[in-house]
Amino acid sequence: MASRFLRSVSLVLLLGCAGGAPAPTPAPVVQTPAPTSVPAVADAAAIDAGAQANPWPYQTPVVVRGANGMVVSDNAVASNVGRDVLASGGNAADAAVATAFALAVAYPTAGNIGGGGFAVTRMRGELRALDFRETAPAAATRDMYLDANGKPKADARDGIKSVGVPGSVAGLWELHRTLGSKKKTWKDLLAPAIKLAREGFVVDDAFLSTLEVGAKRLEKHPVSAALFLPGGAPPAKGSTFKNPELATVLERIEKGPSGFYEGPTAAALVKQMKEEGGLITLADLKKYQAKWRKPVEFTYRGHKIASMPPPSSGGVTLAMIAHILEGYEINKLGFQSPEQLHVVFEAMRRAYAARNAKLGDPDFVKMPLAELLSEGWAKEQRATIVPDRATPSSEIVAAPASASGPHTTHFSVVDSAGDAVSLTTTINWWYGSGVTVKGGGFVLNNEMDDFASVPGTANGFGLVQGEANAIAPGKRMLSSMAPTIVTGPDGKVLLVAGGAGGPTIITAVWQELSNMVDFGLDVGAAVSAPRFHMQHLPDEVIFEKDGLAPATSKRLEAMGYTLKERGHLADAPAIGRAGGEWIGAAEPRRLGGLAAAP
Ligand code: DON
Repeated sequence: MASRFLRSVSLVLLLGCAGGAPAPTPAPVVQTPAPTSVPAVADAAAIDAGAQANPWPYQTPVVVRGANGMVVSDNAVASNVGRDVLASGGNAADAAVATAFALAVAYPTAGNIGGGGFAVTRMRGELRALDFRETAPAAATRDMYLDANGKPKADARDGIKSVGVPGSVAGLWELHRTLGSKKKTWKDLLAPAIKLAREGFVVDDAFLSTLEVGAKRLEKHPVSAALFLPGGAPPAKGSTFKNPELATVLERIEKGPSGFYEGPTAAALVKQMKEEGGLITLADLKKYQAKWRKPVEFTYRGHKIASMPPPSSGGVTLAMIAHILEGYEINKLGFQSPEQLHVVFEAMRRAYAARNAKLGDPDFVKMPLAELLSEGWAKEQRATIVPDRATPSSEIVAAPASASGPHTTHFSVVDSAGDAVSLTTTINWWYGSGVTVKGGGFVLNNEMDDFASVPGTANGFGLVQGEANAIAPGKRMLSSMAPTIVTGPDGKVLLVAGGAGGPTIITAVWQELSNMVDFGLDVGAAVSAPRFHMQHLPDEVIFEKDGLAPATSKRLEAMGYTLKERGHLADAPAIGRAGGEWIGAAEPRRLGGLAAAP
């Protein structure tokens, strides 16, 4: 398997272009003839030559190569900040901290200091997982979002009541303090973000596209509207967007997390909470702690995978999918053939059923993790998968299901020593709660919607979650974020991946992993290939526009699948390795991302 992958990526090295120019990616090595860079649609269409799909828009991936490290994120300015840190002697953790702060300024739809996230790191051979997820405020109650009829109200996901206690500043501090090199101080890592906020960045189509989506939420809140929609509309393309209040807030953080969780920034946040009916108090802020946790580690066909443990469901769900599918020779079924997709969807269905029912914050709930991660569990699931027939989700009873929402951003960093940081951060939806801290220039999350406000009822992302993820004071809401590091059979980092997109994160990361390991795609093609998603409930498979050939969809429908088209699924940039070089693949589905090599 490894040699197939290496053959494939060595072609990338021959054909790829440095510096971000389009790089024609080679034909991946697959079992069925597939003379294209991203074979899915072409392969499937070949089954029924009469029914040709529209061309897949990401057929020719763009990749960037570098021998000394790589940063890939959803924002070019932030990727370049991280790249500069690597180029000036910083390690992967240093670059990750600087990139995250730069995203908080230049990509405010998801980058943040008002939200939270997770990171998986592999530094000096040691794997770690950092949890800086938001917590429910102390005044939160189980039924806080229910109306008089017991129905969930919109304030779980909109406005000041939806805000969880932010974890990002504490998390980035912890990353710096524990894994940063001695070459970069905390102040060094904040400096590019402060400069960006003070001097501004150029308004481009990528920024405008986020404002277009976020405008409705932002215009409801005067402070947000004044910042992001000055004069009632987004700033003009080509103008400079400055955020001096955020620059001041970042300067206060130069002394450490107390510059955020205490003092004038904390006071401004709490004042606004009091004025507008939010729950977060000074005590909540002061109490917030990022936590190191043990990563979920598992193997898949000779590869070692490390991913995020609860309170994210990312790693456990990824492992459950992988364990079920390891029992099938899916490469022999043909890349994205109906037969291959069938077993993949059934594995996803069963893994999400368990996820939705069983997972939550480990500090609050007991979870049967050993069982869910066992070969016995995977074997039991495989025994219920019937060839050629979709299993109705109603037949897979694990308990009621759960939720997650859009917007989030993932970035990955590798350095010249081969160390890696995979970090996903979020304020949940695009521009989070829509609330900007008065005088602070930063948006607050609406992460409280990731709890099951009513266990057994779908949340904003259609996830139906259970009691394990009910609201409780101080508890962390279950996430789908899946920052992941894959080590190849040679013991070196092979893939650093993760994504945005709520529950679709896990299935996107799974597909990138499988595209490389099972089908020998290089990382560019693995990221660009069509994606599919199944989360138990609703009982349907989502596919990307033009990502499924008509012949394949006919076969899947005949097996009993309900198929739903969506514009695109997830946002999952990644870094792969080919011999001695890193290959950075930004997400082609999202405007503005960049892979940058020092
Ligand atoms: O933690 C979670 O799973 C969600 N809050 C993530 C939201 C997300 O990915 C939105 N991105 N597009």
